Amino acid sequence: MSEIVIDRITSSLPDFLAKQEFSKIAVLVDEHTKELCLPLISEHLPPHSLIEIPSGEVNKTLDTCQSIWSELTNQGVDRKGLLINLGGGVIGDMGGFCAATYKRGIAFINIPTTLLAAVDASAGGKLGIDFNGFKNHIGLFQEPAAVLIDPLFLQTLPERELRSGFSEVIKHGLIADKDYFHQVTAEQLNQSNWNAVIAHSVHIKNEVVKNDPRESGLRKILNFGHTIGHGIETHFLGTDKHLLHGEAIAIGMICEGFLSKKLCGLSEDELNELVSIIKGIYGKVEIAKSDFVPIIKNMYQDKKSTNGLLNHSLLKSIGEATYDIAVDEKDVLDALFYYNQLPD
Ligand SMILES: NC(=O)c1ccc[n+]([C@@H]2O[C@H](COP(=O)([O-])OP(=O)(O)OC[C@H]3O[C@@H](n4cnc5c(N)ncnc54)[C@H](O)[C@@H]3O)[C@@H](O)[C@H]2O)c1
Ligand SMILES: [Zn+2]
Repeated sequence: MSEIVIDRITSSLPDFLAKQEFSKIAVLVDEHTKELCLPLISEHLPPHSLIEIPSGEVNKTLDTCQSIWSELTNQGVDRKGLLINLGGGVIGDMGGFCAATYKRGIAFINIPTTLLAAVDASAGGKLGIDFNGFKNHIGLFQEPAAVLIDPLFLQTLPERELRSGFSEVIKHGLIADKDYFHQVTAEQLNQSNWNAVIAHSVHIKNEVVKNDPRESGLRKILNFGHTIGHGIETHFLGTDKHLLHGEAIAIGMICEGFLSKKLCGLSEDELNELVSIIKGIYGKVEIAKSDFVPIIKNMYQDKKSTNGLLNHSLLKSIGEATYDIAVDEKDVLDALFYYNQLPD
């Protein structure tokens, strides 16, 4: 497992760099993290080059990887080089993927600058890109050399992005810690202490990942909300109804909450509580009935789905999850109808 430090970046970054020698350092940024986050670390970086890519999920593609690999090549980064991923989950997933495949693998570290990346995406070693519109379709497992988290970066994050990341925090509570779920959702986005929230979410994720790094079993519980959520995210990707990752996962958690009641014994009271909290934070998105079939089609590309079965990670109760639950299409349709018919 990689080293995960939650501290001021002005000390964690020099500490990390002092421990090892790198022949060259490249920093991967997008236009937002270049403007808002790079200035917070540049003084603490030895000589380095920059690789800038356009922000956003629509750019998490092979084309962007080609430009990253070209830059690494042009800048003369060799196998002893280091790539610093400074950004959200898109930068971390794609920068990690490029580093892990460039010259058969160079070291990389993640400095997450979104809530979503700090609590979830930056640790655990899942790397990849979207392909032909399918989420995280090409990728591999490879741990970063370190994850350096500093909540200071969140100060410039737009509220919509903060809310998106918060859905992974809610997910951590729902799958593993009922008290945490109640505590974080009571304060919603006005957390008095993001440090503590990030630390607890990272702890929950770590405990799961360390027992099953390659996701052959237990790690699948971290995908609660993601089978239907990714189907929805993929469906709207690049359209004017584009949803952020966490927004799509919030809808996925409501739909999969419905399935959890139907198939895994989640009580009606707990389902209602989950729905009212998530809807209270994310509102309700209009998903037309004509979208249901293409959304389900996308779900067959989900990595949990095998042999034509739509496998889900579901809840037995708030704070306890289970995985590898095969769900038939009719139940998934019912779950989408359930969401569709919730009051606004
Ligand atoms: N690998 C994993 O385990 C894992 C887990 C969860 C999600 N993910 C992936 O993470 C991605 C979503 O990550 P995300 O929500 O961080 O999105 P993102 O990387 O697209 O960042 C969101 C936006 O915020 C901007 N931004 C970043 N930091 C900022 C800051 N400090 N101030 C102002 N703006 C800032 C970015 O430029 C971007 O426009 C998805 O592709 C998802 O599949 C991966
Ligand atoms: Zn996610």
